[in-house]
Amino acid sequence: MKLFDVYSLYDIEPISGRGNYVYTADGTEYLDLYGGHAVISVGHAHPHYVHAIAEQVERLGFYSNSVENSLQRTLADHLGRISGYDDYALFLCNSGAEANENALKLASFHSGKSKVLCFSKAFHGRTSGAVAATDNPSIQAPFNRTDNVEFVPLNDIAQVEQRLSSGEFCAVLIEGVQGVAGIHVPNDEFMRRLREVTERYDVSLIVDEIQSGYGRSGKFFAHQYSGIRPDIITCAKGIANGFPMGAVLISPKYEPRKGMLGTTFGGNHLACAAAIAVLEIIEREGLVENSHSVGEYLIAELRKLPQIKEVRGRGLMIGIEIEGSAAEFRKRLLFEQHVFTGGAGATTVRLLPALTISRKVADLFLERFKKLL
Ligand SMILES: Cc1ncc(COP(=O)(O)O)c(C=O)c1O
Repeated sequence: MKLFDVYSLYDIEPISGRGNYVYTADGTEYLDLYGGHAVISVGHAHPHYVHAIAEQVERLGFYSNSVENSLQRTLADHLGRISGYDDYALFLCNSGAEANENALKLASFHSGKSKVLCFSKAFHGRTSGAVAATDNPSIQAPFNRTDNVEFVPLNDIAQVEQRLSSGEFCAVLIEGVQGVAGIHVPNDEFMRRLREVTERYDVSLIVDEIQSGYGRSGKFFAHQYSGIRPDIITCAKGIANGFPMGAVLISPKYEPRKGMLGTTFGGNHLACAAAIAVLEIIEREGLVENSHSVGEYLIAELRKLPQIKEVRGRGLMIGIEIEGSAAEFRKRLLFEQHVFTGGAGATTVRLLPALTISRKVADLFLERFKKLL
């Protein structure tokens, strides 16, 4: 059987990793400034993470959501404490798209309404509701297209207010920082006004922190720069350092009922063991603070380079706007300088390294990056 050919692949295969590096079979070392698409939060093969998963799989890898699983409670307690959301409830699932699907369902169940307001260039995933909320018709099948989703420009509070005043909307869905769009940070004042307006019209504010959350922005959640508290927050990617997991943090105003949401694999023992280990590492090693300081350093150093058109982002979620083709530049970074980076659009290079990156490794990246300018 051949593979269904939907990915554009680099002709390269990392077979092992350590910290901020990955290695091919011939032992060549690559600097990983991409983190497998913002997924590697605590570094490749962190010993505490490896130990936690190995120990758990030896004991019990999986059982269903029809029995008690105290690992879910341990995870919820830790996540509540570290994020400042200990009064919220946690629903666990398996991916980012699924987290957004569940968030949208909750908002719709709660209000009895069906319309969702989203933002230009948004990306929320590829399942039915998530892709409908994604501003990219080329990845929406006719089956996914719906009048239930409308888009307005990011940071345009007047248009948000105008649409919400219709009374038809159950939710506003916004990324903490737009990632796939090329790293666009909603401004803090806009986020505060968005919170006011959604409260005024009794519309759920859902912040998608799937890429921007878990310390990536230099705060635990990117929306915490604006001081707001959304009604629902979605997470995935860095939550379990590559073990598939998604999560929905839910304000106490939503009343659960049996069978309202559900999943076979969500919150399974192995995923919880991985996610608990990730939080322990983030806390013990001060990785949110590290993301903030190394991120600010990288952004400041990149902004000094006259060849760079613009540098956007917060913490370790950085978009570098270059002259010419980003795809070509990234290919040269990979094959000539042995550095993995991410892309976004025609001219943006995205940096999404593990939160463990040191200044020394950041300097090594800058040195290699500058060689290609
Ligand atoms: C902001 C955002 N939301 C949702 C998703 C979808 O996550 P997943 O691929 O785990 O379904 C992504 C993935 O890139 C994302 O960046």
